[in-house]
Amino acid sequence: MTQDELKKAAAHAALADVVEGSIVGVGTGSTVNHFIDALATIRDRIIGAVSSSEASTKRLRAHGIEVFDLNGIESVPVYVDGADEIDGGFAMIKGGGGALTREKIVAAVAERFVCICDASKRVEVLGRFPLPVEVIPMASSHVARELRRLGGEPKLREGFVTDNGNLILDVHGLSITDPVATEMHINQIVGVVTNGLFAARGADVLLLAASGGVQRLSAR
Ligand code: A5P
Repeated sequence: MTQDELKKAAAHAALADVVEGSIVGVGTGSTVNHFIDALATIRDRIIGAVSSSEASTKRLRAHGIEVFDLNGIESVPVYVDGADEIDGGFAMIKGGGGALTREKIVAAVAERFVCICDASKRVEVLGRFPLPVEVIPMASSHVARELRRLGGEPKLREGFVTDNGNLILDVHGLSITDPVATEMHINQIVGVVTNGLFAARGADVLLLAASGGVQRLSAR
């Protein structure tokens, strides 16, 4: 199976987690695009969605799925999203697509986080994938200096502006053995909007697709 077929398999498996008659939290990325397409097949059984990016909103609406403003929503039972890396404790690096801040906001509101991945995303230690950090533009040099002090090598994502009008620094060379501490530490740097570690609020369920099928794993 190709990586894209594995992504599609994980995405389809997540339909079983969708709560009928609810508003579904929807992430961003190529795996989630498969989930949105699958969600369209059961759109009559949900009220609609809250979305973590302009791109996902556009795709949801194109399928006739209503997208709600998160501020008007009382509860989101399930949030479905991909990851760039996920470790054994279900801490993740996210933000390869640059949607990390809105993803973290929707994930914070959701009761359950269902992560959909192909098996290549599963790692022992987070950090081989460069950690995305969203920064306020005027603070990018300051934040980059602080990230170097942590041992990382930040690189500005050229020609990219987030949905929130900010920049992304991709931090190379980190070996993240304590994801919660690193997430908190980086978030304390003045000028950081958020970083792509989803550790304090990791995934609750992982749907991991490999050639043998989709494994459903629950957080310990
Ligand atoms: C988007 O900003 C990211 O957090 C994605 O969830 C992550 O990059 C996974 O993307 P793919 O599903 O495209 O691999």
